[in-house]
Parts: sequence; C-alpha cells; structure tokens
Amino acid sequence: MPDLRHHGDEELAPGLVDLAVNVRAGAPPAWLLDVLQQAVAASAGYPDARPAREAIATLHGRGPDEVLPTAGAAEAFTLLARAVRPRRAIVVHPSFTEPEAALRAAGHPVERLLLDPADGYRLDPAAVPDDADLVVLGNPTNPTSVLHPGGDVAALARPGRILLVDEAFADTVPGEPESLAGPGALPGLLVVRSLTKTWGLAGLRVGYALGPPDLISAMREQQPHWSVSTPALAALVACSSPAALAEAAQAARDLASHRRELLAALPPGAQVVGRPRSSFVLIRVPDGARVRRALRESGWAVRRGETFPGLSADHLRIAVRDPATSRAFASALAAVLR
Ligand SMILES: Cc1ncc(COP(=O)(O)O)c(C=O)c1O
Repeated sequence: MPDLRHHGDEELAPGLVDLAVNVRAGAPPAWLLDVLQQAVAASAGYPDARPAREAIATLHGRGPDEVLPTAGAAEAFTLLARAVRPRRAIVVHPSFTEPEAALRAAGHPVERLLLDPADGYRLDPAAVPDDADLVVLGNPTNPTSVLHPGGDVAALARPGRILLVDEAFADTVPGEPESLAGPGALPGLLVVRSLTKTWGLAGLRVGYALGPPDLISAMREQQPHWSVSTPALAALVACSSPAALAEAAQAARDLASHRRELLAALPPGAQVVGRPRSSFVLIRVPDGARVRRALRESGWAVRRGETFPGLSADHLRIAVRDPATSRAFASALAAVLR
C-alpha cells in the first residue's frame, strides 16, 4: 500500500527550487495579504461564516444552503467520510490520496478504479461499477493533470450515489469549461474547491463544498464549530469579487502559456504522460528514483510518483513555473538523463 499521506511539501528542503508543490508562485498577492491582515485584526470575535457562504453561493449560482466553507478541501473530504456510510466506495486513481485516506480513517472500505495509461488516464464512465454508492475523482486530476470532459463526470451522477468531484485545481483551467460547480443540481453531486493553489493560501486552510442541502447539512453536523477562521472566511469573500476572478482568470491563461513552454523545453528522454491541462505535468523517465535524487543534488525538488496508486517511481510530477525556471529545469533534467 503506498503512503497515502505523503505530499509534495515533503520533497522540499532549503536551497531547492520547488517544482514539487503546485501552489501558484507569487501568491498571495499584496491586496489579499491586506485583506488577511485586516481579518486577523478583527479576529477577537468568533468567525461568522454567513457572508462567505453568500459570496460563494452567488459566485456559483447556488443557494447558501448548498455551500459549506471548510478548512481547505482536505477538511471537506473528512467531513464527508464522517457523514456517510457507503456500501461500495470507489476512488478513481491515480489521484490525490487524501479523499481515500479520509474514507479509510472513517472506517470505510475503499476500492480503487485505476485509469488506463494507454488511454492517457482519461475517465471511462462505463468502468465505474453500477452499484457504487460513493464515487470519488478529481477534475482536473492531480497528478496526471488530465481534464475529464464534464459530461463524462456528470454521467456518473445518479440517485442513491454520492459523486465527489475534487475541483481543487479547476480554477487553473481558463474558463473552467468542465467544472460542475455551477447550478444544475445533479443528484448526489458534491463539488469540493480550494483557495490553496491559485491564491497561494495553503497555510490558511480555506476551501468549500457545494452540494445538495441535505448532504451539506450532514457534513456541517460533523464540522467542529468555527473550524474556518475569520481570515479564511475573509479570503473566501475577497476571492469571489469580480476583480479577484479576473486576476485568477489571467493567471490561468498565463499558466497555459507557461505550460506550453515547459512541455516544449522538456528533453526527449522525458515522456509526458496524459494530456496536461493544469498547473503541473506528469512525466515518465527511466530509473526515476535515480533521476529524482540527481535532480535534488542539482538543486531541483520534484514530486515523486510512487505514492500515487497506479504510478511508479519512474513517474515524476513537475509544477509549471515561469518559462525561465522551466527551461533551466529542462536543462538540468537533460543533463541527468544523459
Ligand atoms: C487534488 C487536490 N485536492 C485537494 C487538495 C487539498 O487542498 P486544500 O489545501 O484546500 O486542503 C490538494 C492539495 O494538494 C490536491 O492536490
């Protein structure tokens, strides 16, 4: 069993360039730090989640009773795991491992559905067993960076089943064409989002869940009172403003062009896996453990692949950075592969 609780931050060390964690460089921006500082100054009282719920509801065209602010996407996975009793839970892999870890920690058996590398790790809705009453997948998916068509994901929703779609990276895709966060009420659909990546707020712990009111209220029952802090709630409101959305949209467009630069610079010995659409790319290299160690020795931290079910030590996940950084990394990788 791979270590489901290994995360990219464990690859970091002083002096290494961080290509292991997919948080946007240069974030949080100064205006958001101001918002947070003011919220810290206003933190003598207990947090009031109502303005954040209203802001998120308006952003996604939902009712406030369909919104639950959470201490990061990670808290949403745990709340769901504690709120439900699935008979047959299926987690689609390779994928971010916290949802599976949360389900197991709550005592639920979990089955893995491994997507096919020959098919570029694309979702095949027909491969999901009909009697699964909980299905979990990410879109776009960490670590493959694959963006599944929204229609294929939506096809998995049905009465009697909870469909958890982890959209922590949805805002890295310009226009979010495949997101299911908007109105439309598919049965049992729970969308989880995060402010961590685009806004550089991994340490603040802020995200939210969108879903049917009865499921949202069952998750809220499991949530410790005041678990989302006043600064985190202020970030939810501030990052839902038109100016913030425009900034995030620009960041997603810049990212797409930076990703093209990274892909163009990678040496031929690095095989790109899947069709990357998010803020990282997955590559496959011969003798990946040696390559990762040699990259560390030359100053680069990349995310190891073997802790993701379905991947191996030959898979490495690389964050998309500015083109100069990507080109320097590609040269270092070429030297290691030679
Ligand atoms: C796909 C995915 N979902 C969720 C998370 C966790 O997000 P948060 O920081 O909001 O808990 C991560 C963090 O790496 C992730 O990669």
